[in-house]
Amino acid sequence: MDGNVEDFTETARSKQAQNMPEMTKVECRNIDVFYGEKQAIFDISLDIPDRAVTAFIGPSGCGKSTFLRCINRMNDTIESARVTGQIFMDGADINDHSIDPVLLRSRVGMVFQKPNPFPKSIYDNIAYGPRIHGLASGKQELDEVVESALRKAGLWDEVKDRLLAPGTGLSGGQQQRLCIARAIAVSPEVILMDEPCSALDPIATARIEELIDELRERYCIVIVTHSMQQAARVSQKTAFFHLGKLVEYGDTERIFTNPEDSRTQDYITGRFG
Ligand SMILES: Nc1ncnc2c1ncn2[C@@H]1O[C@H](COP(=O)(O)OP(=O)(O)OP(=O)(O)O)[C@@H](O)[C@H]1O
Ligand SMILES: [Mg+2]
Repeated sequence: MDGNVEDFTETARSKQAQNMPEMTKVECRNIDVFYGEKQAIFDISLDIPDRAVTAFIGPSGCGKSTFLRCINRMNDTIESARVTGQIFMDGADINDHSIDPVLLRSRVGMVFQKPNPFPKSIYDNIAYGPRIHGLASGKQELDEVVESALRKAGLWDEVKDRLLAPGTGLSGGQQQRLCIARAIAVSPEVILMDEPCSALDPIATARIEELIDELRERYCIVIVTHSMQQAARVSQKTAFFHLGKLVEYGDTERIFTNPEDSRTQDYITGRFG
């Protein structure tokens, strides 16, 4: 556990003062997830706001990644996983048979714990998605999409002179910004980040946090994090999970200053987890 509750209370308070307007982007209703016979998520309902950052926190194994994966139907790719309940994005059921999961995943991008650039050039890492989804007609337009995504991810100046070099040759923090740029390149509406900074040093982490803070003006962002400071710094909403259940959900400031449930209090003050 890094730090104590007093340290980040102030951060959470000043974030909250920015007074976010609230529009629900993703509505989760009565979600259960099973891996074979074993239930991992128990009846979770949660409204995720647009143009804001929602943090998922909780001890290891409590189901944060499993729940996150429901939002872009990544659990579909896990043989033993079964999801019940409903998820609506802008009011439309994402599990409806008319929804193409591949298309859904371009609307709901994902960034993982370990940066995972494709074994391709920096340029092609970003151009890959727009090419498959036909988002650019011709080389010039594709160049523009690539530049714009790299700029939004705060990476352009560092890579503009070596776009044809391999993405895997970048530093860890740069690779993670490359992965964020790759997600942004297909014009997503939601970006899911599963512990995006856990493999990064504090400087690279600070850059990603700044980036998340900029991106929230345009996107609905969900971030899983084990760092209480990070949750307090970057999020406006926080959801605390425990043993597959949603224990508490609300404004980040309130969760960190005045949690209703003793389990939340214990977790944020580092008494367990
Ligand atoms: N592919 C899988 N097959 C079977 N069980 C799984 C699978 N993935 C996760 N689980 C189980 O589901 C539960 C929730 O796991 P999950 O990875 O969602 O937790 P988490 O909160 O993300 O943990 P961490 O903080 O360690 O990443 C755990 O009991 C885990 O063992
Ligand atoms: Mg996880």
